[in-house]
Amino acid sequence: MRALTWHGTHDVRVDTVDDPEIINPRDAILKITSTAICGSDLHLYDGVIPGVLPGDVLGHEFMGEVVETGSDSTLKKGQRVVVPFTISCGGCFHCQIKEFSACENSNPVEKQDVSATLYGHPMAALFGYSHLTGGYSGGQAEYVRVPFSDVGPIVIPDHLEDEKVLFLSDILPTGWMGAENAEIQPDDTVAVWGCGPVGLFAIQSAIVMGASKVSAIDHYPKRLELAKQLGAEVIDFRKTDVREALMEMSGGIGCDAVIDAVGMEAHGFAIDNMIDVAKQKVGIGADRASALKQAILAVRPGGRVSIPGVYGGMTDKFPLGALMEKGLQVRSGQTHVQRYTKDLLAKIEDGTLDTTFLISHRLPLEDAARGYKCFREEQDSWTKVILKPGMKQERNA
Ligand SMILES: NC(=O)c1ccc[n+]([C@@H]2O[C@H](COP(=O)([O-])OP(=O)(O)OC[C@H]3O[C@@H](n4cnc5c(N)ncnc54)[C@H](O)[C@@H]3O)[C@@H](O)[C@H]2O)c1
Ligand SMILES: [Zn+2]
Ligand SMILES: [Zn+2]
Repeated sequence: MRALTWHGTHDVRVDTVDDPEIINPRDAILKITSTAICGSDLHLYDGVIPGVLPGDVLGHEFMGEVVETGSDSTLKKGQRVVVPFTISCGGCFHCQIKEFSACENSNPVEKQDVSATLYGHPMAALFGYSHLTGGYSGGQAEYVRVPFSDVGPIVIPDHLEDEKVLFLSDILPTGWMGAENAEIQPDDTVAVWGCGPVGLFAIQSAIVMGASKVSAIDHYPKRLELAKQLGAEVIDFRKTDVREALMEMSGGIGCDAVIDAVGMEAHGFAIDNMIDVAKQKVGIGADRASALKQAILAVRPGGRVSIPGVYGGMTDKFPLGALMEKGLQVRSGQTHVQRYTKDLLAKIEDGTLDTTFLISHRLPLEDAARGYKCFREEQDSWTKVILKPGMKQERNA
């Protein structure tokens, strides 16, 4: 089959690789109908996540048609399903308490050492996201093997087209959990750093949860425009002093809740970020946490800090004093996708959530390398890229 494979920093290619096979009775095989490129994939593309090997098939946001099932799968051939990017067994301690992204069984023991050493506990498995998280082949491909297919996938009714539901695989639940972790109350003032797909869904979720004012921070005009259309006030961090603007927006108190939807590759010429960029290049210090640091300084005392943005290692000059002295609550994590899919599917169906406004480009799978390059280098206009195996190849997507 054809699949998008990683070969090194900024080097991904569509290659012919082996077709997936059922290797466990709980597996299912999907024929991919739609898959997307995520901001998290850019961390792999930029070479800042360890443990990716040449030839690895990427992709953790996908949906498709069930074409083969193991004897213990609950899926049926022909069903259309969306698959959570977190691979979870459903039976372990964490899965039982719905902490699916902390599943103890999905990441094979022989892959657990690095994350166990780095984090004190091994990570659960994710699709297409390095050998740190299991080394499973991802779904930017014609076919994918779905382990624990009796737990994760959600069956999609025929009347809902792919584009409405594809983001149930990751960014919609991630934005939602980002807002939920910020414990949004009616009348809250909220600030969201990053108007990429995750930030945009966090903004939409915060508004649905009743926030009275949401400020959105980025430096790309088109992304800020999308945030504005959702009802946010927007701040271009290259033109405006973010903290001052947020103090004004919150009546001089500071925001009740802040959401970091940027993660470990923050942009900007703040001095701490420039130093972090240099350190990340040589592999020391590692995470560029400039947006998170700004968020911690901007939130009010007693406020809530939610971090859906991905961090992988260590970061320097972290404002621990502000965190402690202001009495902040912090919540983070890879999304417990399986916890949210059913409710969010209902919210898509009844029109509470719009999931298509951010799609900027649709490309054939064969054009995936171009999709990665443009999604990274032309972020302003390439907001979200969908790849479709079998789609006719045109140069003007
Ligand atoms: N927790 C999870 O389970 C989960 C799931 C999916 C994605 N993520 C993470 O969420 C983050 C965002 O994902 P995305 O797909 O929206 O990515 P993206 O790269 O499309 O968007 C990031 C946005 O942040 C903006 N930005 C950069 N520096 C900034 C700064 N200093 N201040 C304000 N904005 C800044 C960028 O301009 C960009 O628009 C990534 O780190 C991704 O890995 C986490
Ligand atoms: Zn993703
Ligand atoms: Zn589990």
